[in-house]
Amino acid sequence: MPRSGSSFVCSDCGHESPRWEGRCSGCGEWNTLVEERRPPGSGGGARRATSGAGPSPVRPVTLAAVETSEQARLGTGIGELDAVLGGGIVPGSLVLIGGAPGIGKSTLTTMVLANLVAAGRRALYVSAEESAAQVRLRAERLGSRGALDIPVIAETDLHCVLATLEHERPEVCVIDSVQTLHSGELSSAAGSVGQVREVAGEIMRVAKSLGIAVLLVGHVTKEGNLAGPRVLEHIVDCVLQFEGERERTYRTVRAIKNRFGSTNEAGVFEMRDHGLVEVLDASARFVSGATRAAGSVVLCAMEGSRPLLVEVQALVSPSELVPPRRVVSGLDRNRVALVIAVLARHGGIGVGAADVFVNVVGGVRIEDPGADLAVALAIASAARSTALSGADGERPLACFGEIGLTGELRSVAHSDRRVAEAAKFGLTPVVEPEAVPSVRAALRAALKGAPTPARHRTRAAFGGPPLAA
Ligand code: TYD
Ligand code: MG
Repeated sequence: MPRSGSSFVCSDCGHESPRWEGRCSGCGEWNTLVEERRPPGSGGGARRATSGAGPSPVRPVTLAAVETSEQARLGTGIGELDAVLGGGIVPGSLVLIGGAPGIGKSTLTTMVLANLVAAGRRALYVSAEESAAQVRLRAERLGSRGALDIPVIAETDLHCVLATLEHERPEVCVIDSVQTLHSGELSSAAGSVGQVREVAGEIMRVAKSLGIAVLLVGHVTKEGNLAGPRVLEHIVDCVLQFEGERERTYRTVRAIKNRFGSTNEAGVFEMRDHGLVEVLDASARFVSGATRAAGSVVLCAMEGSRPLLVEVQALVSPSELVPPRRVVSGLDRNRVALVIAVLARHGGIGVGAADVFVNVVGGVRIEDPGADLAVALAIASAARSTALSGADGERPLACFGEIGLTGELRSVAHSDRRVAEAAKFGLTPVVEPEAVPSVRAALRAALKGAPTPARHRTRAAFGGPPLAA
């Protein structure tokens, strides 16, 4: 039973309900309501009582009569990040930067503030996770101009932070992280759904009223969701996702929501000894490093509006396990499962009894439906122990395309730009939906002339029916 003064917040969608109803009236999920108790007298809550006179009507205006102001954006000094943001930070905007621990969120935000401070902007770094000394050590490591001039506070109390914002009035402020700030108004621990919502809401209120642009750092869960409250994604202007594997050097930053720009942009970075470095020639690096062994293929992917060539590798090996292992990194696991099923059903390559490992080289994460064909060809090449190559027999084979459930290849956006990027590196012809209509035809084109190794001659790898010539 709810205590008086408590409310229930859904751990899935952040919807607040005054009563315990068993299921959330916002998203309909059962048993996801978490009680938030407010100490007596704290008031709080988003709802304000209306005055006795009742609300007065507001006169609507046509959109043409609405005034807009085009404010100059604040350049972060990091070209890839500015592009993702749509041309820099919009003054007074709220940007959420999500990413797994250790991916480089603090490094990136420190670099941004260093550049802004060096450009004469007022900035503030609020560290609720690390001590000021730790922040200084990072800044020293970056060694960039302005890094040691960033004003910093190490504070976990939300109200102290809000008071500091009102006093200092920076143009840009970093909150690292939203999950470690704590509001005394709520009894729950820092990082809980209610806390994060309260913290983000209060910061937004103060920042918007003072015109402070805020970069909110947030952790993501193992599943890749911004921890706990999806509700944060609704209230901020822009959500940037920082992805990649911590142990590898390449990272991508992409916008998954942007009120001031497109969500098509993505930037590629490399973590070096002195901070994150923009990678402008990513395709060249990946192509030159591509192995010419069975199980490897070059994918013409799109990272936002930019074509990017990456190497996709697969390993298919007999398994002792039931069910066999499916280990995927850098791609959507479910997409890989679909491709494996289509390969078996429509491509004559069954890997049902084998462990399958699929990896995008370099730790890049690809979210592009066009990756399907690369996964299919890499697995087929690995299953057949046959190296794939382009027309000259020297360079790796390049491909892209989405695979449909009936084994057809579907075209994906920006095919000419993908083909052009591959041509830049001499990777022609590209196996793609405009050239081949189906997975079966793509396999035939890719495995053409390649002799099937003797041990696979009588049957396709691991029990699949033979591939029709
Ligand atoms: P960090 O920015 O602290 O990650 P997050 O805030 O997302 O948790 O740093 C991530 C990792 O990067 C950390 O393990 C140390 C490493 N690193 C470098 O390799 N080079 C550098 O210049 C810096 C500052 C960090
Ligand atoms: Mg950090």
